[in-house]
Amino acid sequence: MLESVLSARRSSPKAEDGDGDDESKTRKHVSLPARFAKFVSGSVRAGSVAQYIVLSVVMLFLGSVLSRSRSFVCVGPNETLPRLAVFENIEGLASEFGSLGVPWCRSKQGRKVDWTTKDLLKGLEEFVPIYEARPIKNNMFGMGFDHSFGLWFMVRWLKPDIMIESGAFKGHSTWVLRQAMPETRIISLSPRHPEKYLKKGPAYVDGNCTYFAGKDFVDFGNVDWVKVLLMHGISNLSRALIFFDDHQNELKRLKQALKAGFRHLIFEDNYDTGTGDHYSLRQICDQFYIRGGGHSCFSDSDEARIRAKRRKFWEKAVDTDELCGEGEAWWGVRGHMRDDFNHSSKAISLSEHFQNSRFVESVLDVYWELPPVAGPSLTHQTRYDPARATDPIIEEGRFGQFHRLGLTRLDSTVFNGYTQMVYLQVSSSPTPS
Ligand SMILES: C[S@@+](CC[C@H](N)C(=O)[O-])C[C@H]1O[C@@H](n2cnc3c(N)ncnc32)[C@H](O)[C@@H]1O
Repeated sequence: MLESVLSARRSSPKAEDGDGDDESKTRKHVSLPARFAKFVSGSVRAGSVAQYIVLSVVMLFLGSVLSRSRSFVCVGPNETLPRLAVFENIEGLASEFGSLGVPWCRSKQGRKVDWTTKDLLKGLEEFVPIYEARPIKNNMFGMGFDHSFGLWFMVRWLKPDIMIESGAFKGHSTWVLRQAMPETRIISLSPRHPEKYLKKGPAYVDGNCTYFAGKDFVDFGNVDWVKVLLMHGISNLSRALIFFDDHQNELKRLKQALKAGFRHLIFEDNYDTGTGDHYSLRQICDQFYIRGGGHSCFSDSDEARIRAKRRKFWEKAVDTDELCGEGEAWWGVRGHMRDDFNHSSKAISLSEHFQNSRFVESVLDVYWELPPVAGPSLTHQTRYDPARATDPIIEEGRFGQFHRLGLTRLDSTVFNGYTQMVYLQVSSSPTPS
């Protein structure tokens, strides 16, 4: 029956287990202390003289750092529980927010979201116990804590008449949408139906959701949305919220959403320049004329030096060699516009890249990147570079607040998937209504 209301061109299901080329959320967090422990056990097992020497030097170095450090052990104002904050003393970590600059997308009239940091903090207090009760505890390949919170918070704030998600995997994000709006209809598109995952372990299938999944799968761009939403009693598409977590070129998705008449969009994976498996809003807006945007491929530039240093600390940071492709092309990923879990990758010129950003700016009413929930000294994440993210919701070093909000109860691996989730409000008209 679904097929009769949809235009029928089907995409072949891809990356069904979420195991495409996207590395952002796939690997378990390996912290610096864990890497060190692995190295130590390796030395002991192998008994290599060279490793013992390196080990001794590292121990001496750590000893001298610890003896000089006043903030190695960080105890919050109201806590009896001491917590190691080794990250605070490593050069270039928590202290260097913004050293590379954080590019952003300009909106038509510079409008901002209505919510404040205070609202986000209040939301966190409510969300942590909800998240603890999630049915899918291990959501590797899917959203972690930061984005789950961001999605829940924004949906609750925006209160759409209907929620559409593209890219469901085992159904964790469907569950998050449901927690935010218990009565609101969801439409979920994913090549593989989340119920398929139930055979292997926890998954979530929603009772008030229309699934375009499995044999009924249709790509977002091929749905006749006016018709489908009318069937669900919705005639005003600007009251719908679309959540994309399908690893498709975000310029393509933006154009498809605009064509259908949608106004509220959330993109889960808003990858930084040089990373990720699809062309993202962040990448599109990374332009020379934006503060923090544009890049240098010169190997002796300040940027190259900073990048080389930061690459040592952050798994997802890229140095200049990784950033730049042929002809010193740094935009997108090494001058390429990736799509569909990097199953498609097209070289684009700097001028095309520039035109893409001009187009995006011409339809943007609001651009808001979700900040990370907390900085690395609190979460102990080692994946994304905080210098390429906005300031966290919980300020660095505020362990008391982090603890009070219940965040110390969560496994640190859930803080690993942050990729600048973004909310867009868009309109085709030159001035928003
Ligand atoms: C990263 S996972 C989604 C994770 C999920 N949102 C969560 O947080 O648990 C990406 C999903 O997109 C699906 N996918 C692949 N191509 C798609 C397409 N064209 N439209 C919708 N979903 C697609 C994959 O099969 C996979 O289930």
